[in-house]
Amino acid sequence: MSHFSSSDAPAVTIPLLQQWTREGRRLVMTTAYDAVTARLADPVVDMILVGDSVGNVCLGFDNTLSVSMAMMNHHLEAVARTRPRALLVADMPYLSYHLSLEDTLRNAGGFLQRGAGAVKLEGGAKRLPTIRALIDCEIPVMGHLGLTPQSVHAMGGFKVQGRAADDALRILEDAHRLQEAGCFALVLEGIPAELAARITQSLSIPTIGIGAGPHCSGQVLVLHDVLGLTQGHRPKFVRTYIDGFDLLQQALSHWAEDVRRGVFPSAAETYALPAEAQAAVSAWAPPLSTTSV
Ligand code: KIV
Repeated sequence: MSHFSSSDAPAVTIPLLQQWTREGRRLVMTTAYDAVTARLADPVVDMILVGDSVGNVCLGFDNTLSVSMAMMNHHLEAVARTRPRALLVADMPYLSYHLSLEDTLRNAGGFLQRGAGAVKLEGGAKRLPTIRALIDCEIPVMGHLGLTPQSVHAMGGFKVQGRAADDALRILEDAHRLQEAGCFALVLEGIPAELAARITQSLSIPTIGIGAGPHCSGQVLVLHDVLGLTQGHRPKFVRTYIDGFDLLQQALSHWAEDVRRGVFPSAAETYALPAEAQAAVSAWAPPLSTTSV
């Protein structure tokens, strides 16, 4: 039996995701930042997130704060050109929804015009007016609570949130406020499993966990983490299924070795010149130089 959905599987919509959650089917989301990763992910997952994690995963930044709308649009367009059947969610980067409602709506509406089916943004109660305005403009919103990477400085680092009772209650209440405001799903990142379980069990919309234990309605991991393409520290919630970086580098170094040994390209990998053209090329002599030395 194939582990993949069939290629003629229907497009994943928000009502379908919510139906699957009611039926107890766990949802799967991963990231894609370009056409290659989108094509890898699309037959396998329910949702593709063009995450602002592109900043640290692909663009060499230490965190997501330097990711701009121009960068996000560039990556979203590449993913959208593959016309994924998975629901395409675009991440609102830092400062794209903080300055004014008009700016926020233009940025988020631009994501939809580029092919996204929903946007994701970070934060709790203080984001309610923003979330309501987006939903009023027919822009579906996925919330994001707990360890919100755009608050890295305010949180004092990438630290698990909601361990203290007041903090846990604030996240639980925020989850309900975001549901009431109309979010169709919530990402819960970096919170204790028991808190994520309580949130999930008390909401009717799906929760998508990352570092939030097994009791969420679904899970999200960064594709480059799952495939072992990221280097350096990996948080404990990341499970890597292949040492992609090492394997791909080995393949690349085999090719480099073949070039250096003169065994790449072979005859089969080479275009031949037809005999007539070959004769002409061989008979050609360089013109005599007209410049005197
Ligand atoms: O940007 C991202 O990849 C994310 C996920 C980790 C949820 O926000």
